[in-house]
Amino acid sequence: MASSLLIKHCRILDRGKLKESHIFIRQGKIKSIGKAERAQKTIEAEGNIVIPGLIDCHVHFRQPGGEQKEDFYSGSRAAAKGGITSIFDMPNTNPATTTLAALKQKRELAKRHCIVNYGLHFGATPDNADMVRKADTKSVKIYMGSSTGNLLVNTPEALARIFMAAKQSGKVCMVHAEDEECLRNLKEMYKEQTANHAEAELHTKIRDSSCAAKAIKDALRLQAKIGNKLYFCHTSTKEEMALLRKAKQRSTKVFCEVTPHHLFLDVRAYRKYGNFVKVNPPLRHAEDREALWKGIADGTVDTISTDHAPHLPEEKGQGYWDAPSGMPGVETMLPLLLDAVNKGKLSLTKVVELTAWNPAKIFGIVNKGYIKVGYDADLVLADMNLSTRLESIESKSKWSPFQDMILQGWPVVTIINGDIAYYRGALYNTRGKPVAFA
Ligand code: DOR
Ligand code: ZN
Repeated sequence: MASSLLIKHCRILDRGKLKESHIFIRQGKIKSIGKAERAQKTIEAEGNIVIPGLIDCHVHFRQPGGEQKEDFYSGSRAAAKGGITSIFDMPNTNPATTTLAALKQKRELAKRHCIVNYGLHFGATPDNADMVRKADTKSVKIYMGSSTGNLLVNTPEALARIFMAAKQSGKVCMVHAEDEECLRNLKEMYKEQTANHAEAELHTKIRDSSCAAKAIKDALRLQAKIGNKLYFCHTSTKEEMALLRKAKQRSTKVFCEVTPHHLFLDVRAYRKYGNFVKVNPPLRHAEDREALWKGIADGTVDTISTDHAPHLPEEKGQGYWDAPSGMPGVETMLPLLLDAVNKGKLSLTKVVELTAWNPAKIFGIVNKGYIKVGYDADLVLADMNLSTRLESIESKSKWSPFQDMILQGWPVVTIINGDIAYYRGALYNTRGKPVAFA
């Protein structure tokens, strides 16, 4: 473990333009930018770009209780390979992170096994508002509609209690906004019709966009009264974009996340991958995808996060009603986005804004998200010319809908707290630290 490191001949973004530079790191922090100081170790960047390590606001690393699907070690190695240097883990584990004891247990597991930096989202239940207030996290996850696990807060009274508790304790409410009653009604209706021959595409019909719109409206109405910080996870439809565009004019406390799978896939993927791409919220239609890209361009979207939700191939290979929802994402988010930059779909600055600056701002993360002197040396070296496909998969899910795609633009080196976690195909056991908040 070198205590000083020089990244030589790299290019960094400076007000939208790439400038040739050097980055000198000592004891885990960025010490100087622009001077090629003597260091114990040097990385010759050969003109490759350095961006702030990605902060993924939304992963399911499954530990404790789901280690056969993923754990902090396997998930964080996959993240490091994908240029992600900090993750926020979701509470739908077993036990669920809905008590202070479970939070403590998960924190110890992350400390021991996570090779990237980490934060944890606490989980809401209809009656744990007191615990939400006490939990030492910056955020609380609320499932308005059910998904993997059994977390659910689906009455207006319970939702109000959680929003209030979050506001009082300075937490961001991370909402899975699909209306439970709407989902249940559609499920019943289609269950009768389709019995044993349901196709994966049915998922988009059952989890219809109207269910998402209903939940978003309800949550926004309540937020307007309570004034809490409200972050909508994985928004996926044109209706949601329109609602959030408007809500964000009224409140600076409303935030909006999109995922790579909703940006780069749509219902047509069900034909090819079946239940492997069954995910909540479901894949949508081409016009929804377009609306998400428009939301990125006009500032409605605040973050792109993976919703990395690994399941085993044998589970995903089951029939529609039994296959679990979710797909992996940490290894492919940055390559997909860099490829999109190369294709002119968005700027590199926008990628950094949505994957580093805004996550740092929304959660009040200290010393991360920027390449600045004094900041943590969480950095990614990206080769914008490298054109290849995902050759191996670190995640225990051992599958990705993007594995056959040739993408141009890949992370080639990932540095966590000044240490090399990933270097041109090889992973190293760095030590993740808890993310610190202002
Ligand atoms: O598809 C999903 N999978 N959506 C969620 O909300 C949860 C996730 C999981 O944990 O598998
Ligand atoms: Zn999720």
